[in-house]
This record gives sequence, structure tokens and C-alpha cells, in this order.
Amino acid sequence: MDRLTISPEPRPIGTSSLRVFPVAYGCWRFAGTSVAAAREKIESALEVGIQLFDHADVYGGGAAETLFGQVLREAPHLRSRMLIATKCGVVPGIPYNATRAHILRSAEESLRRLNCDVIDLFFVHRPDVLTHPEETARALDELRQAGKVREVGVSNYTPSQCAALQRFLPFPLVAHQREWSCVWPAVFTDGTVEQCYTARLSLIAWSPLAGGKLLLPLERAAQDKNASVLVPTIQKLEALAHSQGVDRAAVALAFLLAHPVNAIPIIGTQRVDRIRRVLLAFRVEFDRAGWYALFQAGRGKQLP
Ligand SMILES: NC(=O)c1ccc[n+]([C@@H]2O[C@H](COP(=O)([O-])OP(=O)(O)OC[C@H]3O[C@@H](n4cnc5c(N)ncnc54)[C@H](OP(=O)(O)O)[C@@H]3O)[C@@H](O)[C@H]2O)c1
Repeated sequence: MDRLTISPEPRPIGTSSLRVFPVAYGCWRFAGTSVAAAREKIESALEVGIQLFDHADVYGGGAAETLFGQVLREAPHLRSRMLIATKCGVVPGIPYNATRAHILRSAEESLRRLNCDVIDLFFVHRPDVLTHPEETARALDELRQAGKVREVGVSNYTPSQCAALQRFLPFPLVAHQREWSCVWPAVFTDGTVEQCYTARLSLIAWSPLAGGKLLLPLERAAQDKNASVLVPTIQKLEALAHSQGVDRAAVALAFLLAHPVNAIPIIGTQRVDRIRRVLLAFRVEFDRAGWYALFQAGRGKQLP
């Protein structure tokens, strides 16, 4: 049969020994609540099986990491159930800095805010074209040698930028973090998916629900600047969700999870009920025709 597999089995992170539940939880929108509310979100994510929590030094200007660290101070036993990812290199107003000095300082500050000893997965957030990759690599290697980061990945790099950094690293990069959703298929046209296959990098997909746009009511989607793609995609998601007794978010996540690149989408909801509904994604059934129909809707034109 041509049914695609959507398994909740843990997925490896690159060639590392790390394996995680196939969906991660993102902390971009995490700051600004009480410690109790933050703890409830973290615990809900852990309860559904989520292990990887994605941060960046700039989320909430550092407040997301600080709040997360406050939860870990209050409930240190949670740390052993999770893997923490964070990122460095975006500096509002500059906008990027991947120099050795900046990376070393950023990692130290993230560790302090997160209230932990090691960052499990450390990303360079965006390519800094003004820094030689050899310098960036030196900083990442020093952090790894010092036991401050376990594994390293890149975020929003092109495949050739990723290959250039890898050329100067004495260990393999393990992850590519890129925007990917039904309506944002760039990873298929710029060589990212192929690089993930050949270099055995994990594709960590940010904004898998297009930042919430895939859940808009149709009349609001029709006013979006990307309406010509968004509306037909939402209609397809809705039809599949309706026929399978799940919700649109579940189908949108399942679309990513069913692809053989073995991606790990990072969900960004701040609502505990929506975190719990993540498991619905594993109930979705896709066959080749259904998957390709959604793929074509999201790219805005039929395949030849
Ligand atoms: N590497 C990078 O450059 C980069 C860039 C952006 C993001 N990221 C990472 O990716 C993570 C996820 O990004 P994201 O937050 O854009 O992901 P997302 O899951 O695509 O979007 C989350 C948004 O969708 C809304 N939403 C979720 N389910 C919904 C539903 N059923 N109905 C209506 N609205 C719904 C959420 O609102 P509610 O909170 O109200 O549910 C939230 O505003 C971030 O936290 C961050 O860790 C990385």
C-alpha cells in the first residue's frame, strides 16, 4: 500500500547519540507569564512525550531562557527528562555576530539564564557573512571541548554556508534548523533536504503551522498577502482533518512528519490544550496522492 508512516518513535539528531520525540517545543513566544504558567507548559509538553525544547538567546530579549531557568530552579528534576537547544549570533540592531568572542559570551549567558550546566544542542541562529566560518568553528569547538555544549547545528543557513562551516569543524554538525510548513516549502528547492540526507543532518522545522496562519479562518486567510497559496492549502487541511476526525494543526504536522527526511517540527503554541493535542498528528493517515495534493497546494502550482 502507499500509506505513509507517521511514527511517534524517537528520531535521531544527526549522527549524535541524541534521540528525541518527533515534535519539539519552541520557546520563542514563551516569555511574559508567571513561573507557574511556564511550568505548566513545560510539564504538559513533557507529558505528551516532547523532549527537545528550543530557545535562543534573543527570545524575549533573554526573558524566555530566564523564565525557563526559573522553572528548572523550582523543579530541577525536570532537567533530566529534556534536551535543551539554544542559539547564538542574532544581535538586534547589528544584526548578526558569529565571532568567537560573541559566541563564547552568548553561550555562557544562556547557560546562566537557563540555570543549567550544558546546552544539549547549540545553533548558530543565522549566517553572519562578516565572520569567517573558521572563526565561528573555533568557538563552537572550544565550547564543545569544554563540555558546555554537546552537539552543534546551524539555523537558516544555506546548504553551502553549512558545508563551509563544516569544513572547519573537527566534529559533524547534527542539525539544520529551517522554516518549513505546508506553505513554506523552500527546503525542497534550495538543497536543504538533500543535504540532510547526504550529511545525515536532522531537519528541525520552525513555524510548522506557518506561525498560526494555517489555522486562520478562511475569510481571514483570504486577506493574507499569500492568500492564493494559503486558502487552497487550508481547504485541503480542513477536508483531511474533517474526514479523519482530527484538527488542521494535526494534519499540518503530520504532513511534515510523514516525509522521509525524518524532520522534527517545533511547535510554538502557548496554550496547554493545544500542546496536548500534538498527539493527534500521529493518528493522521496520508497516502502519496494526499501528501502530494497538499504539497502542490502549498507550492502554489502543480508539479509537471
Ligand atoms: N531558527 C529560527 O530562526 C526560528 C524562527 C522562528 C521560530 N523558531 C522556533 O520555532 C518555534 C515555533 O515557531 P512558531 O511559534 O512560529 O510555530 P507555529 O507552531 O507554526 O506557530 C505558533 C502560533 O500558531 C498559533 N496556533 C497554534 N495552534 C493553533 C490553533 N490550533 N489554532 C489557532 N492558532 C494556533 C499559536 O497561538 P497560541 O499560542 O495562541 O496557540 C502561535 O501564535 C519557535 O518557538 C522557535 O523555537 C525558530
